[in-house]
Amino acid sequence: MTTLCPLDALSQKFSSLFGDQPEVLVRSAGRVNLIGEHTDYNEGFVLPAAIDRHICLLARRRPGRIVRAYATEFNDLATFPVQESPAERHGHWTVYLRGVIELLQRRGVEIEGFDVLIAATLPRASGLSSSAALEVGTASLVQALFPFAMDELELIKLVQQAEHQFAGTKCGIMDMFVCRLGRQAHALFLDCRSLEHRLVPLALDQVALVICDTKKKRGLAGSAYNERRAQCEEGVRLLRQWLPGISALRDVGLEQFISLADRLPPVVRRRCGHVVAENARVLEAVSALERDDLAHLGRLMQASHASLRDLYEVSCPELDTLVESALRVQGTLGARLTGAGFGGCTVNLVRRDALEEFKEKVGADYVRRFGQEPGILVCNATDGVRVQWLSAPACSEESSDG
Ligand code: GLA
Repeated sequence: MTTLCPLDALSQKFSSLFGDQPEVLVRSAGRVNLIGEHTDYNEGFVLPAAIDRHICLLARRRPGRIVRAYATEFNDLATFPVQESPAERHGHWTVYLRGVIELLQRRGVEIEGFDVLIAATLPRASGLSSSAALEVGTASLVQALFPFAMDELELIKLVQQAEHQFAGTKCGIMDMFVCRLGRQAHALFLDCRSLEHRLVPLALDQVALVICDTKKKRGLAGSAYNERRAQCEEGVRLLRQWLPGISALRDVGLEQFISLADRLPPVVRRRCGHVVAENARVLEAVSALERDDLAHLGRLMQASHASLRDLYEVSCPELDTLVESALRVQGTLGARLTGAGFGGCTVNLVRRDALEEFKEKVGADYVRRFGQEPGILVCNATDGVRVQWLSAPACSEESSDG
């Protein structure tokens, strides 16, 4: 997959479908999480980056209050009235648009009809947040077409709510946060409790950010994601017997946890053990990145993978194979699963002079074991959302916050 949507071809397709040229293009980035997995819904820390693989939305306002939406990936044209509340969890791909549109309207945003064509350079259902990218892209598109003022954090929380209520995944806030506020050449350090955040420069001149895709698809809502979340909540409930002041695993220190771990049932102990140590790793990773110590960041990524595999139990043979093969290449600094797990992708830091060897070895190992090529994407950190007017009212490219 290329990094850019082919604008000319997509505009032509738009015209042939809807009888007119698009007036606006929204490019909404996917994300990769460098470290801090399954910590966001435990009010902990994460360190993701927006990546240069996008969902592209080409759109034009139309008279009336009907939305016509076409997804190139499904070759499917859907039509729905703006004012009609969608059924929750109806399973159709338009749920991501309709949930956001519905919640924006409940907040008083006035939305009229529009036509939209959706295309992607971001693989779907691969743990790179294609759903958050589509939801954030929809919110940004609506904001471009029918301007409204809303605080950035409010908008991000609204998108998260849409995912919970209409798509059915009780996800944390990381994905929509970085999809909206990620910036070029930076990772984003986020405290998922206070929502304080800070951009951390991600220098990718000597070292490449490489994503390997197992191509093993996983539906998040149908997976064990919600179950993991419930196990963490159970951990908090049990730990409160001895630590009455805590409200999330974020409040539990590593030493505190070690002293109490034996009192927890084994599964809950493993889940909590991962989260508590992972939070500490994120803080260490941020300072490693800030002093440009990518080797140390790499070691923390490896520890994170081992913990996700052994304690949180969200890895799988495909992910483990990709990580193990990557680590057999000398120039690999770090490798781990990224996103929820159960399939999806790994994230790797690879010295640029070892990139060819990496692609060859990791690819060959995977083919030998699973009979198919993995996806290997060399990525850059990019802006989360970009809105580009193709005709009036504006003609320059701007990022979402102008
Ligand atoms: C998914 C969720 C995120 C986060 C990760 C795991 O991507 O959408 O909120 O919980 O899994 O870190």
